[in-house]
Amino acid sequence: MDVFVRKAKKHDLQAVLELYKQLHPEDLPSPPERELKRIWTRMISSPAVHCYVAEQEGKIVATGTLAVLPNLTRGGRPYGLIENVVTDKDFHRRGIGKKLLRYILQEAERLNCYKVMVLTDVYRHGTVEFYKTAGFKTGLKNGLVWLPHSVK
Ligand SMILES: CC(C)(COP(=O)(O)OP(=O)(O)OC[C@H]1O[C@@H](n2cnc3c(N)ncnc32)[C@H](O)[C@@H]1OP(=O)(O)O)[C@@H](O)C(=O)NCCC(=O)NCCS
Repeated sequence: MDVFVRKAKKHDLQAVLELYKQLHPEDLPSPPERELKRIWTRMISSPAVHCYVAEQEGKIVATGTLAVLPNLTRGGRPYGLIENVVTDKDFHRRGIGKKLLRYILQEAERLNCYKVMVLTDVYRHGTVEFYKTAGFKTGLKNGLVWLPHSVK
């Protein structure tokens, strides 16, 4: 069955939120619906944030976000940050995440990013392999994370 990747639109919010529940079943409490809609509008209209969805027969089966951050070093080329990549659990291991990631990386290239970074939670089985399959490398840099007290 055909899967295609596209930029997320306003009406995709609910489907994306459903996928995020799979990504973080124990997430922080969600803001009220009005606030979620406001955030989503900002996300999909921001020049720095690029939200993508993979669609199969009218169903959103995966999503991922690329943030493209302006930068004065590296010849003024921006850098990219990938977040919130998730494929619906009923559609795992069908190449959908790979297709989505390939699309996102092509977009990063088109937007002139000189590098793209991603962090994966250490407890998530298979995610490092997933990103390696798409060409990401481990061992080039150390990834460090600071969390505010409200998230610890
Ligand atoms: C990680 C995730 C996005 C992969 O999505 P997917 O659509 O199932 O991935 P694909 O089918 O495109 O996999 C492509 C390749 O990545 C690797 N891969 C994917 N999942 C894997 C797993 N669980 N274990 C080992 N390798 C894996 C394989 O090499 C796979 O190719 P293959 O199936 O031909 O062997 C999906 O498992 C998911 O949503 N997990 C929960 C959320 C999550 O962890 N997101 C990442 C946050 S950083």
